[in-house]
Amino acid sequence: MTPNDFLSIKDFSPQQIRSFLDLARHIKARPDDYVQKLKGKTLALIFEKPSLRTRVSFDVGIHQLGGFSLYLSPAEINLGKRESVYDVAKNLERMVQGIMIRTFAHEIVDRMAEYASIPIINGLTDYSHPCQAMADYMTILEIKGKVAGLKLAYIGDGNNVAHSLMFAGAQLGAHVWVATPPNYEPKADAIHWAQKRGAETGGTCTITNDPVAAAQGADAIYTDVWASMGQEAEAEKRRKIFRPYQVNGVLFGRAKPDALFLHCLPAHRGDEVTNEVIDSPRSVVFQEAENRLHSQKAIMLELMEHGSATTPGVTAAESVHV
Ligand code: CP
Ligand code: NVA
Repeated sequence: MTPNDFLSIKDFSPQQIRSFLDLARHIKARPDDYVQKLKGKTLALIFEKPSLRTRVSFDVGIHQLGGFSLYLSPAEINLGKRESVYDVAKNLERMVQGIMIRTFAHEIVDRMAEYASIPIINGLTDYSHPCQAMADYMTILEIKGKVAGLKLAYIGDGNNVAHSLMFAGAQLGAHVWVATPPNYEPKADAIHWAQKRGAETGGTCTITNDPVAAAQGADAIYTDVWASMGQEAEAEKRRKIFRPYQVNGVLFGRAKPDALFLHCLPAHRGDEVTNEVIDSPRSVVFQEAENRLHSQKAIMLELMEHGSATTPGVTAAESVHV
């Protein structure tokens, strides 16, 4: 794989995204083949927002690969306030072999990657959630046997999860429809990128305010919370605006009879999805959550397997003076 970091699905070629998915599926099938691959290596987990799946899957994943993790809570680092992004990067690169970071502004992960000599993994920003998209498409691939040509409808907020879903769908040749209320569409640059890449892969990216048009004949329906982490103050206002976009039995009934239901979780049952849908036999949300583990093991392996497990930041000049 060419990039040293996993910051965005956009940074990779379609072939590279497929390779990640192939590796993830191999790791899931034969986990014992990989138990020593990251022996002695440490991944720092920087969280500026809460998490269940991301924390557990990276933590368990690196341990299963023979390495260690180090959880750094928002209170411990206080990124950019107690200490600058630059100084955090330059400290951590001396002691660990990779950093996963969940933060607010996307430019923080970009800057971290620019400053640190070790791999940086985006564990969610306000703009994107690339690790989630890998698990999402892995799940679809496992069940449907393909992604190219499928209609995937994302219904809800045009947020970080929607962006990464659009990017990966474009890479893999899917027909991604995104239905949001007016003014909650995905960012224009994300739409533009997905449409351009889709034109190269046979995929499409269609943005609409009509949830029924999106759901009609879909192979999979996806939704996410209406108010993301950091938008809690808007939750009540959004609840009214987004109500017509709830994925309930009626809307899900517009999709194909064998359509899947996906959700990155956590879900707000009764808001963006009803129990009838999320608990239905066609809901694959827990398989999707499990696939975070396998797909992120693939990402960690690709980024961290090569290179020393000790003193990664020591420069030649420093060695001379020892
Ligand atoms: N889907 C996901 O990223 O879950 P967490 O916020 O619990 O990590
Ligand atoms: N859009 C959600 C995803 C959580 C995994 C958020 O950012 O809070």
